[in-house]
Amino acid sequence: MTTNLRSLIPSLKDKIYFNYGGQGPLPTPSLKKIINSWEKLQEIGPFTNKVWPYINNEVILTKKLIAKLMGVKIKNIALSENISTGMVLPLWGIDFIDGDEILISDCEHPGIVAAVRELCQRYKLRLNIFPIQKISNLNDELVIHENKKYLKNTKILIISHVLWNFGYEVPLKELKNELEKVNKNSYLIVDGAQSFGHIEIEEKVRNSDLYAITSHKWACGPEGLGAFYVSDRFIGRTRPTIIGWKSLKKEQGIYEPSDNLLHEDARKFEIATSCIPLLAGLRESLSLFENDIPNNKKNKIISAMSNKLWFELNQFKDIELALKSPLKNGIVSFNVNRVIDKNAFIKKLGLKKIWIRVIEDPKWFRVCIHQITQEDEIDLLLNEVKLLMK
Ligand SMILES: Cc1ncc(COP(=O)(O)O)c(C=O)c1O
Repeated sequence: MTTNLRSLIPSLKDKIYFNYGGQGPLPTPSLKKIINSWEKLQEIGPFTNKVWPYINNEVILTKKLIAKLMGVKIKNIALSENISTGMVLPLWGIDFIDGDEILISDCEHPGIVAAVRELCQRYKLRLNIFPIQKISNLNDELVIHENKKYLKNTKILIISHVLWNFGYEVPLKELKNELEKVNKNSYLIVDGAQSFGHIEIEEKVRNSDLYAITSHKWACGPEGLGAFYVSDRFIGRTRPTIIGWKSLKKEQGIYEPSDNLLHEDARKFEIATSCIPLLAGLRESLSLFENDIPNNKKNKIISAMSNKLWFELNQFKDIELALKSPLKNGIVSFNVNRVIDKNAFIKKLGLKKIWIRVIEDPKWFRVCIHQITQEDEIDLLLNEVKLLMK
């Protein structure tokens, strides 16, 4: 990380920040791009002939960039507001029949789990839970092996690419292969909240039928903007649940009979008016971070720091680490057995301007190490943890 980039991020000036998986800080140049875009929209529009080519160009530029980072075609990308809408809206579009089975891991975000529970209740589907949390020494071989036990009648497997609680990167390709063996008509639905902007996902996305990302976490873009990939098969076989003018091939003649009013690409899952200025902000953040450290180099840098933290935490006999070393990304999860009131622990660290979080299920601590993290921040965190444990 160049100190130059840190100096462009105001919220890092007075904090030792480790919550990138919750929300990444927005660099000033990204905020400026958002403001400029907003001003431009008001200058040439808002609702004039000149504004539509501008909006169109913003959308295409952003989708092109996202498609490149996801290693897929632009026609398979839809814009959304966040991870939850990107996951839940298309999911509700699957043609379910009574008794279909959904398998969801026990390491998913509560909002996604709640949406899936509701879906199952309404359509009389069966919800099965794939217990990853109880696998000790989490590794690909064990996860693939354990997953097979639960796959039998699965129509939909829902799982995160990087688990938000443990930081483990799931072997998507292998899981998809196993899923296809049991049911050719199954779907793999992936939550990319903790992967986009953090690890390289190009190549991996194509193993899924739906892969949702957000701007506001590791990518350090603005909140209120997300996107998702849907495979050609998913596009062809599903129908959107919420429809608006953006889903339509054409608005004119809407009262006339038609076999298909909707776009035949991912746009059929887009709905209506959205906040266009945010797009320029995300593009700027992605470009700033890529210029700082190219995507193909940052994993080495991030992992070196997270392994340093892991190694130091592992020296304390009271601390239990979620994963075995070496870690492969920037999420370091741990438990301090002796600390019962986890939120009080976080509060005390916060008083020292050090920000980590408690995750739910299991109630452990999570530290996120980003390419903009500095080694001395890790030292400061370790010192404070040491003091608080005394
Ligand atoms: C794995 C995971 N999924 C979903 C979400 C919800 O994200 P959003 O608010 O973008 O819908 C989060 C947020 O922390 C997350 O970590």
